[in-house]
Amino acid sequence: MSKKIRRVFNWTLIFTFSFVIVFIILKQNHEKIDEEKVNWEARNAIRINNIKRVCEKYNLGIYKNHKDDGKNIIKYPPTPQYTASTTWLYNICLLMRIPEAELSSGREQISTIARRVIPELDYPEAEEAMQDTTKLLVVRHPFERLLSAYRDKLENSIAGRQHGTLHFYRKYGSAIVKKYRGNDFVKPRDDQVIHPINLPKPAGIEPTWSEFVDYIIDTELESYGDDHWMPYYLFCTPCSLNYSLVAKVETLYQDQLFAFEKLGLSQLIKPHWKHKVGISNAARIYFKQLNISQVNRLYNKYKLDFEMFAYSVDEYFQFTHDYATEENPFEVDFFSDVYDNE
Ligand SMILES: *[C@@H]1O[C@H](CO)[C@@H](O)[C@H](O)[C@H]1NC(C)=O
Ligand SMILES: *[C@@H]1O[C@H](CO)[C@@H](O)[C@H](O)[C@H]1NC(C)=O
Repeated sequence: MSKKIRRVFNWTLIFTFSFVIVFIILKQNHEKIDEEKVNWEARNAIRINNIKRVCEKYNLGIYKNHKDDGKNIIKYPPTPQYTASTTWLYNICLLMRIPEAELSSGREQISTIARRVIPELDYPEAEEAMQDTTKLLVVRHPFERLLSAYRDKLENSIAGRQHGTLHFYRKYGSAIVKKYRGNDFVKPRDDQVIHPINLPKPAGIEPTWSEFVDYIIDTELESYGDDHWMPYYLFCTPCSLNYSLVAKVETLYQDQLFAFEKLGLSQLIKPHWKHKVGISNAARIYFKQLNISQVNRLYNKYKLDFEMFAYSVDEYFQFTHDYATEENPFEVDFFSDVYDNE
């Protein structure tokens, strides 16, 4: 064979070989995705059934037994709500053909953009819209959500003013401090809070996490809760709406893939990965400012959310400053594994 022919032959061999390999990889991937789809489907069904079970157990929403004249906990009509999930707002904006560059420019908050392109609906349009839309609920561990709200809105009235921190200070923060700060106030130690180095320090007038928690414990959230800390069962009325998709921030990436698939959008948008999984480091740090009794009372406020969305509270007790001394005299290794509730 001439040199030239041999070279062509070699290249053909290499091409064919690569092609076969790529084909095998793609095929395996496809099988894996098919298998995952079954898992997603099952996981979503488990979540929906669990919500239904808890609604029935506590006689809530459409599962309310009307013979029972007990007080109906749900006071809010089910209007479509903007969830606090930035990732989903981002996805919705993409669907409304807002360029990605605009969304990630940081010039405007994503919720502001979303509100502009999809205005909130009033009755009766809202009710009609609710009948024939696919309803998606995005939830997060109740304590992570609460801590995140505190840290974003209340901890620092100087930083993040574009996110309304000054407004939150005036509306909630100052009153919380006035009510809950005693004469024996001791500032949380530096190892009990996180001050991002690239942000200005708080003014020192803001409520501490512990004061905020005491405020939440004493507040009737049905009537005086802010959207950011109103329990989901009151705010998103999962007992009155048939959500067909229940996504969790903790499994957001897979849940997005599943939702896009279900909605037939997988060719249009790709998931964005914006959250970490499991218990945050911030929780380990901030829950040290609390004692067992506070966490217990806080848990009772959000118990229905915990139950409805199958979250566990146990680890958060272990972070409290008096945990190691009470019934558990030994230090507990709670840093070991990533939290997974399913
Ligand atoms: C939700 O779905 C169930 C069964 O599919 C139905 O009986 C119920 O009326 C629906 N509820 C609402 C609020 O659409
Ligand atoms: C826990 O903390 C709260 C709020 O600071 C306080 O009122 C309460 O007495 C504490 N309880 C215990 C058992 O230390």
